[in-house]
Amino acid sequence: MNEHAPVLVDELLAALEVKAEGWYCDATYGRGGHSAALLARLAGNGRLIAFDRDSQAVADGRRRFAADSRFAIAHADFARLEDELVRMDIRRALDGVMFDLGVSSPQLDDPQRGFSFMRDGPLDMRMDPSRGQSAAAWLARAPLEEIQEVIATLGEERFARRIAHAIVTRRNERPFERTADLAAVIADNVRTREPGKHPATRSFQAIRMHVNGELEQLAAGLEAARKRLAPCGRLCVISFHSLEDRLVKRFMRRHAHADPMYAGLPTIPPSARPTLRVVGKAVHASAAEIARNPRARSATLRVAQRLDS
Ligand SMILES: C[S@@+](CC[C@H](N)C(=O)[O-])C[C@H]1O[C@@H](n2cnc3c(N)ncnc32)[C@H](O)[C@@H]1O
Repeated sequence: MNEHAPVLVDELLAALEVKAEGWYCDATYGRGGHSAALLARLAGNGRLIAFDRDSQAVADGRRRFAADSRFAIAHADFARLEDELVRMDIRRALDGVMFDLGVSSPQLDDPQRGFSFMRDGPLDMRMDPSRGQSAAAWLARAPLEEIQEVIATLGEERFARRIAHAIVTRRNERPFERTADLAAVIADNVRTREPGKHPATRSFQAIRMHVNGELEQLAAGLEAARKRLAPCGRLCVISFHSLEDRLVKRFMRRHAHADPMYAGLPTIPPSARPTLRVVGKAVHASAAEIARNPRARSATLRVAQRLDS
């Protein structure tokens, strides 16, 4: 129940080009699968600073690595990476930052967290329930157009309009409080069935991404990481969603080129020069890993390296 099988562990470690004395950041600790694998490669003066916005994940990290002075963990979202590092008095540039996006198995599997359409629970969906509004609170007040837009864009759901109408009609009678209730209303309004997929999959994913501001977090987290990387430091991002992957890919490409404003000009000011180099192509899980862990099927790892400038 409390387990999370980390994906692409060997690929991630290879991409980080781990230096035994390096300082690294795991922006998404989860249950520490990637953190543990990285710590196993670090010498006594290496460091790993982890983040998670979920207090249960942070508690796990504090317990599991209590005796390891190379490890520290902050209860914070990674958009606040820079502020937190400063608060922890970590001024050094980092040799690598890794992101493993989305939710962990313990979050999905605990009905009380409200992520699951399979197991009934309170309709929450926040990774950090101490901040922001729950899915229930958002669905109770959001305008119909906003609900439709979120489900259409973040869920890439063809039936967004129909689902948004059904949600608003139902909430006018009685607000949504439980995940099973929302899942049932959505299932009644999605006409086609994707094989192996619950009809509420796309809508739940969209609502979760919206409630947690996941794309905004990612944009801010990538930028904070880029700025904190040492020359030759590595930025490694595992995403599970096409919109996230697109954001990561564009971010890396944008910073791998000079500011287009200076295209064709003989000199480019330092502030407009590329700061990243894209390393290789997107990496996917092997067939053997997917057979062991079906969640790995949709994982994409992208890697970039900080340039000297
Ligand atoms: C897929 S899991 C990471 C699993 C981890 N790599 C492992 O091996 O156990 C994603 C984790 O990142 C956390 N998370 C997601 N978005 C976050 C954000 N914006 N800031 C901080 N933590 C975040 C979630 O709470 C969750 O615990």
